[in-house]
Amino acid sequence: MTIKKIANNVYATSVLNPNMRTFDVIMRTENGTSYNSYIVEGTEKTALIETAHIDYFNNFIENINEITSLEKVEYLIMNHNEPDHSGSIAKLLKLVPNLKIITTKAGSIFLKNIVNEEMPNIIVAKDGDEIDLGSKTLKFITAPFLHWSDSMFTYLKEEKLLFSCDFLGTHYCEPQIFDTKISHIDDYTKSVKNYFDAIFSPFKPYVRNGLEKIKDLQIDIIAPSHGPILTKNCQLENLINCYKEWSEEKPKEKISIPIFYCSAYKNTEKIANSIADGIRIILPNSDVKTYDIIKHDMKKLSQELNESDAFLIGTPTINRDAVPPVMNLLNEIDAINISKRQCAVFGSFGWSGEGIPNVKVRLQSLKVNLFDEDFKVNFVPTNKDLENAVDFGERFAQGLKL
Ligand code: FEO
Repeated sequence: MTIKKIANNVYATSVLNPNMRTFDVIMRTENGTSYNSYIVEGTEKTALIETAHIDYFNNFIENINEITSLEKVEYLIMNHNEPDHSGSIAKLLKLVPNLKIITTKAGSIFLKNIVNEEMPNIIVAKDGDEIDLGSKTLKFITAPFLHWSDSMFTYLKEEKLLFSCDFLGTHYCEPQIFDTKISHIDDYTKSVKNYFDAIFSPFKPYVRNGLEKIKDLQIDIIAPSHGPILTKNCQLENLINCYKEWSEEKPKEKISIPIFYCSAYKNTEKIANSIADGIRIILPNSDVKTYDIIKHDMKKLSQELNESDAFLIGTPTINRDAVPPVMNLLNEIDAINISKRQCAVFGSFGWSGEGIPNVKVRLQSLKVNLFDEDFKVNFVPTNKDLENAVDFGERFAQGLKL
């Protein structure tokens, strides 16, 4: 990393990880990432903003030593304590035992079970609290569920600089650390959206709250904990606008009731279409689309499901289970926001039909509101079976509380 100074007496001590391709098990990171941390030097005291993943502890310490000596660091500000930020604290405390750690109440509870060491010097920051480092004032702004309950922002007043942690960050490794230096802007833009979708889309009301809390601050620089630093007139305004747009509550024109299915021999497909017909009889103005799961992009399907008003899942049974594409879709469900969503399960089966109950077990674990009935047919549905499927669709629609 060649650039370290990011503002007056503010330095990046970030660790770059250009080769990372999977983050937190679930996120593809085609452009690597960075574990950003920062040093703020006041005339009297020095603060460190966050640490790094434990695997990069040595690089992290080397970067700090290039800026200041560790003994001078009096405060460690933890805006959020997921281990990609807090992982180095236990080792850091061995080097700086008197370090004062400032975090939210929730953060203080999490840290005890992450560090598993005595931490007598934890200071709980409340919304609006400030500390004075000498000509440098840090103000703490709680930002719950962005994206953990412990999250907060830290605003450095004199430099109009917001340390935003995961918020407005990106898994994109930029060696020159500033947004002005990004050479593959399309890749960066794609990373920003993927990052938002993976981390913040389950927390849209909180995103709106977070944006509201910072809207009146004068901000020239946003220093997130992953990816490039955002500067005024470059990406700063753009990312804030993107977050506004992506977190917006969009009124729907129609009630959406998608039906997702897999069908080896078109039997489950026929049932899906008949159920759709039944729903349309009761709710003619609703949007009832059927999706053969293997013919569509999983991201689109999961978005349809997660934004639905109610949904149905159809599966055949192969080898005593639901088929993998169905289970893959169930794995994409937004577990935070799906609870109480009304849904039903159906399918054709050949032998014993475990697919339907196995799908229901997964849905029940997500605390959805399962319709009292399932609809299943042994092998090929007869005309009578398909009439019954229409009736099933009607009963499902009649029972919806929307
Ligand atoms: Fe970058 Fe929520 O950790």
